Amino acid sequence: MLIAMDAIWILTSGGDAPGMNAALRGLVKIAASRGVEVIGVCDGYEGLVEGRTRPLTRRDGGGLAPIPEIEGLSRLGGSALGTARSDVFLTSEGRARAAVRLNGDIGLVVIGGNGSLTGAHELGREHGVRVVGIPASIDNDIGATSICIGVDTALNTIVEACDRISDTASAHRRAFVVEVMGRDCGYLAMASAIAVEADAVMFREQGRGDAEVLAQLGDTVTRSLHPNRGKKRALIIKAEGVRLPTSTIVEALQDRLDNSSYRGASVRATILGHLVRGGSPSYRDRMIAGRFALAAIRTLEGGGADEMMAWQPFQGEGSPTEDPYVSRVPLAEVLAETARLHDGTSKVTQRRVAMMRRLENVLSL
Ligand code: F6P
Repeated sequence: MLIAMDAIWILTSGGDAPGMNAALRGLVKIAASRGVEVIGVCDGYEGLVEGRTRPLTRRDGGGLAPIPEIEGLSRLGGSALGTARSDVFLTSEGRARAAVRLNGDIGLVVIGGNGSLTGAHELGREHGVRVVGIPASIDNDIGATSICIGVDTALNTIVEACDRISDTASAHRRAFVVEVMGRDCGYLAMASAIAVEADAVMFREQGRGDAEVLAQLGDTVTRSLHPNRGKKRALIIKAEGVRLPTSTIVEALQDRLDNSSYRGASVRATILGHLVRGGSPSYRDRMIAGRFALAAIRTLEGGGADEMMAWQPFQGEGSPTEDPYVSRVPLAEVLAETARLHDGTSKVTQRRVAMMRRLENVLSL
């Protein structure tokens, strides 16, 4: 049975991710095609609390159509609605103020990462808001979905950046430490390491002590740059979440090289940081965004709520959608698995760490 809705409200929250805009465009077009008005919330939960919104559909002849600004959004990075990390929404008073804004039969779609989906769940639990989530975070640290919007573009950007760094590193026979984003999850580092032909990869989930890490990296770099090897560069990918500062690693590796039997090789570092979060979304991110959008609208009009759209072939967990790659998973389950991903007790984290451990000797060859 289809549930009538007065409107669908959409917000993006937390760190932006390439493909958020493609999801927004998809949501607006699909909702308009079903005759449901769409309202955009400016600047995430902050805007919801303050009631800052703008219409994303308008009456056009007899029917409803997206506003013209919706066209061309798919190719834009960032978030056209604006996004924020809201402190006020973390309080129950803030959430109560936000819930009051959602007056009537309104479905809310939240596009964002862990904090955003936690907020969505709280709004549903505390105030009965009909909310669904779409996972978007370059960190790929959301439970129950194999991929989040933004990850593919971020990985492509890392690959391009490391290819460029490899050019200059090879010209000078240098070692480079490249730090990539990923505060609580080293996925970007792990997933990019093979593609960029890294000699070593560091991520928090390895759980190694500083001295052990530095000794191992020192071995790898001195071996890689040894004149007999003929290798032109050594590349270390480091996830942001690793406690050791990148500058400390560079100093330690430089010391090690200076004290080795050959001299002259130098170590440099590049922190890719926010560079990796911007840019035009890849085909894959746009495609996933569009399919999440369709499933989210279908979920709301079917009366579903407090769920996240997940990219995983339906395997009997969560509820299927008409798309064999998109499942609906209760937000409570998503958040519990996300916590396990972060603290390392998730089977997914353990599988990733074990796989990278098996690859270690291959990478450093
Ligand atoms: O969106 C996640 C993330 O990119 C993390 O990897 C990073 O630590 C954080 O955002 C940076 O946040 P901010 O843009 O607020 O500095």
